[in-house]
Amino acid sequence: MPEAQLLSGKTVSESVYQSLIPRISALQSKNITPGLAAVLVGENPASKVYVRNKTNRFRKLGLFTETHTLPADTEEEDLLKLIETLNTDDRFHGILIQLPLPNSIDNQSVLLVVDPRKDVDGFHPENMGLLTSGTPRFIPCTPKGILRILEHYDIETEGKRVAVVGRSNIVGRPMSILLSLKRNPGNATVTICHTRTKNQKGITNSADILISAAGVPNSITDADISEGAVVIDVGINRVEDDSEKGYSLVGDVDFNSVAGKASAITPVPGGVGPMTIAMLVENTVEAAESTLPK
Ligand code: GUN
Repeated sequence: MPEAQLLSGKTVSESVYQSLIPRISALQSKNITPGLAAVLVGENPASKVYVRNKTNRFRKLGLFTETHTLPADTEEEDLLKLIETLNTDDRFHGILIQLPLPNSIDNQSVLLVVDPRKDVDGFHPENMGLLTSGTPRFIPCTPKGILRILEHYDIETEGKRVAVVGRSNIVGRPMSILLSLKRNPGNATVTICHTRTKNQKGITNSADILISAAGVPNSITDADISEGAVVIDVGINRVEDDSEKGYSLVGDVDFNSVAGKASAITPVPGGVGPMTIAMLVENTVEAAESTLPK
């Protein structure tokens, strides 16, 4: 039996949706329905599932969403043109470009074209700059969801040592910046570990909070954490097996190994994943609210 407390993103996301209902109603009473345009380029199976899960949640909440699906050989120029039309389409308060994009397309050029006020993923350099300066506009959904889990379960971050494994622009880097900001949750001492880090175990072993966003299945075991650490597992890795689907989803963390030593842990599935979607909805509601006259 695991001893660690289970940090349920599913539970926290339900309370986020409850809190959004009156905000959505208030917008709808002013004839505004928060809208999200999702853009999916290529055939990445995981991306297709993510986009479907995100847009299904929008529909479930009575929000507006449209998915623009483009072939893998789409010219960058055509993608940029599509984004420009979405920027000026008032039905959409948020635009989501599902990553990764095909290698032939330059990610940075694409993210730069999204109107920063519709950039509900928080990936535009303007929004990354605002976040780094400590005055965020849109906080990237996965790190924001992790902060919300920590808040919900009263996990103190001030003065704590945090190890973030992974330095992606989507999770690791914004997560490390957010937790080091002079705010709450925040005020932590953060170390980022990545593929060139020497003695990662030495760093994670002395962390009070370990956040793994490396995308390497079962790579964190009890030997990597300190006694009583809080462990946040961002990994959603497809591992082939004999099941009907042909794969199962596993985290970066070897749950059974870590659960006996950690004080709290997020499961996969049902941990960080549901929070990413909830924060996307919340950011889109915020984007719609920001169009109201002050
Ligand atoms: N790919 C993996 N995570 C994300 C995310 O949060 N947003 C987008 N747009 N793409 C992703």
